[in-house]
Amino acid sequence: WPQSTDLIDGALHLGGTPVTALADTFGTPSYVLDVPGLRARAAHYRAAFTDAFAPAEVQVYYAGKAFLSTAVARWVHAEGLRIDTASAGELTTALAAGIDGRDIGLHGNNKSRDEIDLALEHGVGRIVIDSLPEIELVAQRAAARGVRAPVMVRVTTGVHAGGHDFIATAHEDQKFGLSLAGGAAMTALERILELPELELLGLHSHIGSQILDADGFAAAAAALLGLRADLAARTGHMVTELDLGGGYGIAYTPEETAVDVVAVASSLAHACRSECERLGTPMPAFSFEPGRAIVGPSMITLYKVGTVKSVQLDGGSRLYVSVDGGMSDNIRPALYGAAYHAELASRASDAPGVAARVVGKHCESGDIVVRDVELPADVRAGDLLAVPATGAYGRSMASQYNLLPRPGVVAVGDGAPREIVRRETLQDLLALDLG
Ligand code: LLP
Repeated sequence: WPQSTDLIDGALHLGGTPVTALADTFGTPSYVLDVPGLRARAAHYRAAFTDAFAPAEVQVYYAGKAFLSTAVARWVHAEGLRIDTASAGELTTALAAGIDGRDIGLHGNNKSRDEIDLALEHGVGRIVIDSLPEIELVAQRAAARGVRAPVMVRVTTGVHAGGHDFIATAHEDQKFGLSLAGGAAMTALERILELPELELLGLHSHIGSQILDADGFAAAAAALLGLRADLAARTGHMVTELDLGGGYGIAYTPEETAVDVVAVASSLAHACRSECERLGTPMPAFSFEPGRAIVGPSMITLYKVGTVKSVQLDGGSRLYVSVDGGMSDNIRPALYGAAYHAELASRASDAPGVAARVVGKHCESGDIVVRDVELPADVRAGDLLAVPATGAYGRSMASQYNLLPRPGVVAVGDGAPREIVRRETLQDLLALDLG
């Protein structure tokens, strides 16, 4: 649960406000963001990496793909984080928040010319190169503007890590980055050094997501440090920065444990120091790009219960509890088989717990919010359910499937509760329909 959660007389309070009042004011489903929790997590991640790697310089970029709005960009930036973006939409949102271009990075395996132009126009701090043709494109756009583009190279290190195949990103047979083993990374680095329009900042690796230990990160870091030493031996150019990406795992259910970022950062820093010693190279500066770990645990989704149905099964029964959202506001269970937890949030109940499944209102049997959870047997229409840890890749991957308007995001704990992203209306849906 987010930091500012209390249970008072059986009713969940967030940032001092009962969820019943939030539902009355803002409707359901709503995403509820605990602002002090978000800021504390941002500060904690920044401190963990900065302390572990000191005296090496550290920057932490918040990966906006997890969830980005102008308010969130400002809050995490106020905690000393920069913003990592992966599209013109994310970049525009960070800029609209008033973030200086130098504090923004741009990623993407298929950046458009317009996206590159937008990044150069606003002087972004780094463009992470993901392919050989992109080197020429960025150089050409920088030349057209008369600027020098700061770039990093995303390296495919061959490390396999991460919770699900769709989110593991550094093995060879996938679309991201330039291969270390295949030589494309070295080709890219040497080409960049030939081009006066490009300034080579360093090497980047993102191995996957929802990772719980340091081993994969350390293996990727060692691969990058080796590449850095090889490049220096071949060209005399020692890159000054390594970006080790994001991917720090969180707990979605009471049975799971989140990554201990202090421990992971310290073991990773240790691994980098010994590798640099072994190679006889200086420690570079480091950057990191956590998204899920910052915003995931800081948000819950609040749903209202509608239909409740008991289904008889061999050896028991299961209570199907339908809520007023579903796979349109959280696609992760359907897409990755992701597990979540839910609790009755609007009242106390003495009823015994029963095996339940929380499902949405979409026209698919895979429309599951929480596959397995125990809920009080008397859960009924009108109750509110809270699902914790929905902040990352919930709203950001939301759709309008079945033409459900997307829920708003309500911020609590920062003055009076307020919507920082407005709930869509039926009129919003029709506004795009040109007849
Ligand atoms: N940096 C890069 C280059 C990335 O591709 C990603 C995530 C991150 C940082 C942030 O990773 P995080 O710290 O949030 O794990 N939709 C999937 C996750 C996709 C992650 C894509 N890249 C999910 O819902 O699990």
